[in-house]
Amino acid sequence: MLNIDKRLNTPLRIGNKMIQNRLIMAPMAGLTHVALRSLVRQYGGCGLYFTEMCMARTLPAENRAVSPVFKWNDPELNTLVCQVAGGDPDAMAEAARRIEAEGFFGVDINFGCSVAVICKQNAGAALLKEPKQAEKIVKAVRAAVSIPVLVKYRTGWVDNPAGAVDLAKRFEDAGADALTFHPRVAPDRRSRPPKQAYLGRVVDAVQIPVFGNGEVFEADDARRMLETTGCIGVSIGRIAAAKPWVFAQWTKGYVPVPDIYRKCGHQMVELLYFYFDPITAGKRFRKWALFFSASFQFGHAFCLSLCRRKTPEGIHAAMDVFFDQSPRVNTRPNMNLFR
Ligand SMILES: Cc1cc2nc3c(=O)[nH]c(=O)nc-3n(C[C@H](O)[C@H](O)[C@H](O)COP(=O)(O)O)c2cc1C
Repeated sequence: MLNIDKRLNTPLRIGNKMIQNRLIMAPMAGLTHVALRSLVRQYGGCGLYFTEMCMARTLPAENRAVSPVFKWNDPELNTLVCQVAGGDPDAMAEAARRIEAEGFFGVDINFGCSVAVICKQNAGAALLKEPKQAEKIVKAVRAAVSIPVLVKYRTGWVDNPAGAVDLAKRFEDAGADALTFHPRVAPDRRSRPPKQAYLGRVVDAVQIPVFGNGEVFEADDARRMLETTGCIGVSIGRIAAAKPWVFAQWTKGYVPVPDIYRKCGHQMVELLYFYFDPITAGKRFRKWALFFSASFQFGHAFCLSLCRRKTPEGIHAAMDVFFDQSPRVNTRPNMNLFR
């Protein structure tokens, strides 16, 4: 059986840089903010971190002191990738130049987001309908920067592995240094299971590293993905938000302390209200609470009790009430909350 500790702890070259660990965080709007990244780091860290999605149009003029998404701590930069979305190659190149100038590890192009408000701007997964335009974007970003260029994408708009393979080859030829592939079609946001066989086809089609993504919730899921698809590493999203210690648990032998959920919940509240103004912190907290609550029996009620509170003190108190009842922890997240 594959030793995932060993596999995931093997350093990997991406373009002109190295990462030390192949278990990476998936970018998530509203979740992979500086507070979550800081918490993951406190529990032992991961191979590569991603910002929330930034829009190419606004990124060049973004002020990191006030932006809720273009925000980081300088010591993070050597393992932090900035994700950018947009449909215009010149605007994407301009955004990439700013990302390089700020000192990020790399730039990640979002071709996966299928939310209507993004697709209407001809950004995110909308570009998967226009492979030539997507290719132009990758070329423009590649020409603009020397830092690693990554691409995150989905199968496409129709359920056809050949389309995903064609896109992978185009991205590689256009100069991408690594891919993260989420083998689901764009209209199917996260309902049906991802098709791991498609991931295997993409891995076989290109020379550049391909990270697999989609419904890896336990170490065994990661092991299966690595074994069956041959992907170079694993990108985890929702479970990383719900349990920021999973990276350390799967790759560094970290054993969670008995009251880990209570501890982590309180830490997240502290960090959010430290990094963000109270309104933004509250919004970010409510988004996170959904994924955090999915680990518990009666998670819905817990989530509601947290989201009703308007102050950090109130949230801390609601957490203590819940955890004092010694809630049952689900082995896998409740998918009604984890969508
Ligand atoms: C709340 C939320 C926001 C997301 N935002 C982004 C995003 O901005 N960019 C992106 O590439 N993917 C985004 N994703 C998709 C994730 O990166 C990932 O592909 C997806 O959640 C599947 O991985 P998982 O099963 O490990 O969560 C988002 C997912 C969630 C749940």
